[in-house]
Parts: sequence; C-alpha cells; structure tokens
Amino acid sequence: MAESITITDNRSGEAIEIPIVDGGVSAAEWAKLLPGVWFYDPAFMTTAVTESAITWIDGDAGKLEYRGYPIEQLAERSTFLEVAYLLLNGELPTAKQLEDWVHEITYHTFIHENVRKRFLEGFHYDAHPMGILVSAVAALSTFYPEAKDIYTPAIRYKQIVRLIAKMPTLAAAAHRFSVGMPFIYPDNSLSFPANFLSMMWKTAEPHYEADPALVRAIDLLFILHADHEQNCSTTAMRVVGSSHADPYSSCAAATAALYGPLHGGANEAVIRMLMEIGSLENVPDFVRSVKEGKGRLNGFGHRVYKNYDPRAKIVREIAEKVFQVTGKNPLLDIALKLEELALADDYFVSRKLYPNVDFFTGLIYQAMGFPMEMFPVLFAIPRTSGWLAHWTEMLDQGSKIARPRQLYTGSPRRDYVPVSER
Ligand code: CMC
Repeated sequence: MAESITITDNRSGEAIEIPIVDGGVSAAEWAKLLPGVWFYDPAFMTTAVTESAITWIDGDAGKLEYRGYPIEQLAERSTFLEVAYLLLNGELPTAKQLEDWVHEITYHTFIHENVRKRFLEGFHYDAHPMGILVSAVAALSTFYPEAKDIYTPAIRYKQIVRLIAKMPTLAAAAHRFSVGMPFIYPDNSLSFPANFLSMMWKTAEPHYEADPALVRAIDLLFILHADHEQNCSTTAMRVVGSSHADPYSSCAAATAALYGPLHGGANEAVIRMLMEIGSLENVPDFVRSVKEGKGRLNGFGHRVYKNYDPRAKIVREIAEKVFQVTGKNPLLDIALKLEELALADDYFVSRKLYPNVDFFTGLIYQAMGFPMEMFPVLFAIPRTSGWLAHWTEMLDQGSKIARPRQLYTGSPRRDYVPVSER
C-alpha cells in the first residue's frame, strides 16, 4: 500500500500525490496544487509546525520520551540538570561533561545586583511572582546585550547557561519579595534543587539544607516538567524566537504563555477546585455539575494524552514520599475520590479524560509550603531547558519567521464615513 495521499482539485481536475513522511504530509507540496488555499486549523489542532528530535509523546498509549529515553527511567535514575543537558545536546553527558555542566550552571546562579535592587524592588508589594518572573526574565536581555548575537555558538551557550541557572534565583526572589522576606543569595555548595529550596525557605540559619526527600521530589518534578514538545509556551518561545529576538525576550514570552490557567496555571486551579469541593460527600455532586457543563474538572484532560498522563503516575508516587515528610495534604482524599469517580464515569471515559500532570502536583507543592501563586513559577524553572532546546533546534534548522495565514471573514471594501455623518 502506498504511503501517500492524493488530492484532487475538483475545480480543475488536477491531482497531486503527496508522500506521508514521519506521520505528516508536506503543506509545501499541497500549496503547489492549491496556491492561496490555506489550511484552516485554529489552535494548530492538526498542524505539525516542525520536525523535532527532542521529545516524543504517544498520547493514546500515555508514553513520553526525552531524546528516546522513557520518562519513567529518567525519573528513577537521572537528575534535572542531567536531563536538561540531554534535552539541549541530544545525548546523555559523560561523567566529565556532566561535572562541567553542573559546575557552569552552579557558577551562573547569581543575578546582577541591579536586577534585584532596582528592578525587583520596583514592583508593588503584593505583585504576583509569575508577573515578576515574566518581567525579570525579559529585563535580563538588557543586562546581557550580547545575547542578540544568537548565531555565535559561545554566546548562545552562555545565555542558555545563564537562563537555566538564574531561573531558580529569580523565582525564589519573586516569592521572597511578594511575601516581604529578604532575598537569599545562591549557595554554591548545594545541588540545583537544594539551592532553590534554600533560596526559598532560608531564614536566620547560616546554612539551610532541605530534607533530602524534598530535594529529590523537587528534582523529580523538574525532570517531569522539563519538556513536553510543542506545547503552548514552547510554541510562544518558537514564534518569538523565529523573529531572531534574543533568548531572554523569547523566554519571557514563553513564561507569559505558561501563566494562563489552561497551561501552567492548571495546578492552582486544581487546588482551588478541591478547596471549593471542601469535603468527600460533595464530590459526587461536583462531578455531576461538571457533566452538566458547569465548569471543568481541573487537572483532567489533555490535548495530546488520551490516556493516563505518564507524568501523573510518577507524581502520585512522589506525593506519597513528600507526605511522609510534610504530613498528608488534607485535600488528597478529595482528589483521590474525584479521580476514582471520574475514571469510572462514562462522561470522562468516552471523552478520554484522564488525570494530567497537574492533578497531583499542586497538592505536593502546597504540602511543601509553596503558595499557589508560585505553582506556575515552579513549572517555568525546569521548562526553561525545554524552551531553550526547541529554540536551539529551530535556529539550527534555519527556520523562517513564524507567520500564519488567516481566512478573512470581515467586511468587504467600504468608504470611510466622517463621524458627523454616522
Ligand atoms: N473537564 C470536563 N470536561 C472536559 C475537560 C475537563 N477537564 N476537558 C475536556 N473536557 C470535555 C470538553 O467539554 C469536550 O466535551 P464535548 O466534546 O462534549 O464538547 C471534550 O472533553 C473535548 O474537550 P476540548 O476542550 O476540545 O479539549 P482540548 O484538547 O481543547 O483541551 C485541555 C485540553 C487541557 C485545555 C482541557 O482538557 C482542559 O481544559 N482541562 C482542564 C485544564 C487542565 O487541567 N489543564 C492542564 C493541561 S496539562 C498541563 C499542560 O500541558 O500545560
């Protein structure tokens, strides 16, 4: 059987055969037959915007791989910084490469004093940390003007290191500022996740060491959130990056995309939903109201996964370990009951709505003491590595500026009428 499709233009009878390659058909081939007839595909539901060798998802089977490595193996055996290296470079590092990479990241965690003193302190006292983060990442481009030189490998590499290294520092600074706590400088004697927790929670002690189980949990959550192919924020990164903006400006756009409740804000929405449900007896009524179209079951459903999100399974295991240290989040029982009812209900089953990664992450973050406003910030820290991997891949592919078409449905040409005659 031929691996191709044939399209016939019924107006002219002309036909064209297009091969199916890697699961897609070339729109450029299509355009040869039908110039000026555009694919109508709002929200890119059926459009592959690129070839990519970074992350593979089988949404029907619920499988996720970074550079060919199953997420379960990386979660069990790797660390976030090793995974970031893998995403960016395509291969796992040798021991020496890993040592150098960790050293580089560790020694770029400090932010310019003016970012903190002049810039961060300019925000209103109760500013949302995600709003602070979006602006602070964009502001970094003014501190590193050489970043515009995106085609000089050493300069590009330096900005990648800076962004991955400084994200936790900016994130923790945004939190500390929004709760009126003094800024904590990075501690180079700590690992990447332990340093982040130190910058978050350190108070008067000379050296802060978080519980190792919580350090590992944060590192695991960073691994699970490091990349997810062409999601909304990665697409924002690629679209802005395609105009050859510097990586800080592109990352700020990606961070902004992550701010929305349908993307990085979903775990906050889950906690708010669980609090609103309030108790186990209210769960059946809540499920009923969702089925009647009165709101959504937050943390359920995914554009790509039509099966249990493989990350959600791992998050469930992490939750158990975290709760052993922090005590159980009282909302957990409501979440488990919701999951049980939804997974047995035809409304959710027939629409292939399963828990996604966000269903349990908020419970963990909350138990660890993170305020809800920090949840999307916690997502942005590791996703920066994925954004940068896709940005690099896009530039190396010699991509063109992203510029979709539209189907115009507005008024035909008409003449301007002066306001006095309208
Ligand atoms: N609760 C109830 N019904 C739902 C839900 C839900 N969470 N999600 C989808 N549906 C229904 C929807 O009403 C529609 O039903 P019908 O066919 O009768 O109109 C059907 O399922 C298909 O929904 P859709 O909106 O066409 O699906 P989508 O692919 O556009 O949306 C989604 C994907 C993630 C935006 C959506 O499932 C949703 O809003 N989920 C809740 C928010 C959430 O958890 N987001 C986190 C996503 S994972 C993290 C990330 O990648 O950022």
